[in-house]
Amino acid sequence: MNKDNILRHDTVAMDETTGELVIIDQTRLPGETVFLRLSRPEDIHEAIYLLRVRGAPAIGVAAAIGIYAACRDLPEGDRAAFTDEFFKIRDYLASARPTAVNLTWALNRMAQVVEAHPASTVSELKALLRREALTIRDEDIQVCRALGEYGLTLIRDGDGILTHCNAGQLATVRYGTALAPVHVGREQGMQFRVFTDETRPLLQGARLSAFELAADGVDTTLICDNMASAVMKQGWVQAVFVGCDRVAANGDTANKIGTSGVAILAKHYGIPFYVCAPLSTIDMRCPDGSAICIEERPAHEVTELWYQQRMAPENIRVYNPAFDVTDAELITAFVTEKGVIRPPFGPAFRALFE
Ligand code: MRU
Repeated sequence: MNKDNILRHDTVAMDETTGELVIIDQTRLPGETVFLRLSRPEDIHEAIYLLRVRGAPAIGVAAAIGIYAACRDLPEGDRAAFTDEFFKIRDYLASARPTAVNLTWALNRMAQVVEAHPASTVSELKALLRREALTIRDEDIQVCRALGEYGLTLIRDGDGILTHCNAGQLATVRYGTALAPVHVGREQGMQFRVFTDETRPLLQGARLSAFELAADGVDTTLICDNMASAVMKQGWVQAVFVGCDRVAANGDTANKIGTSGVAILAKHYGIPFYVCAPLSTIDMRCPDGSAICIEERPAHEVTELWYQQRMAPENIRVYNPAFDVTDAELITAFVTEKGVIRPPFGPAFRALFE
């Protein structure tokens, strides 16, 4: 696969003729590039839960386009019936995954459109919802581009970068968050040496980051999660860039399970640890990391998935949290669309949202 085969496609899109949600099915990557066209709430919920579309920003955009797609064929006559169904679908989609704040953030933006237009007909509401979904998509592209440009100010051509999970283009509409500086740097002819953790148990690093980085011609090395220390110790990593699913008001950050361990290692080796965070992922109602709900996923993802045969004893107890929380004190800076934010994060975030 090359750049033409994956990076020229938006990860999440609306078919502007039919209004359907169009996603790249990430469970099929890197083997096959398969596009799914969705409009039934059950299919959209399933796609988010099974990580066919994943990564906080991509989930948000998919939910926004998805709720429009799911509502666009509802009957026109009765506004009360329409709004009733709209809010049922909103609640249903919001239940697909709990940690990424972007999911409820995007669905609430769509809901505000309905609430802000009490006198509009169903047909007018549908047009407004479509416009809002496309705005959320466009904003995601602009925000990720800005993250890439600000992130690029923190690194130099030739640097070694370590990343965890996939916070690249496949986790957003375009560019990504943590990998945006790399993609934007590539456009300017820069080259980085990127180490991507495989990211047990769902292998977003091995299946997705390695795939999209290679597609962009990036010098990419795949490592198992337990190799990060060895790579850092050799002096091969000048910066760590990761994404996030929910950032608390004090800077504590939920991201893919294993991220906090990488942050601890980075501190040990004196390597800057950067979190790339669209403002939509900062949850000012969440005071600190202890208030973040951490999704737990089924045991078979650890014991069977991606293996040729089950590799753990039957009935063994498994703990499978999808995310962990990195303490704010381990984070060197946040890269946002408004610039690079350094500690103390609490006052800096408050100033951003004021
Ligand atoms: O379970 P996933 O694959 O949705 O988890 C994704 C991550 O943890 C990403 O790092 C995060 O959502 C940021 S994506 C720009």
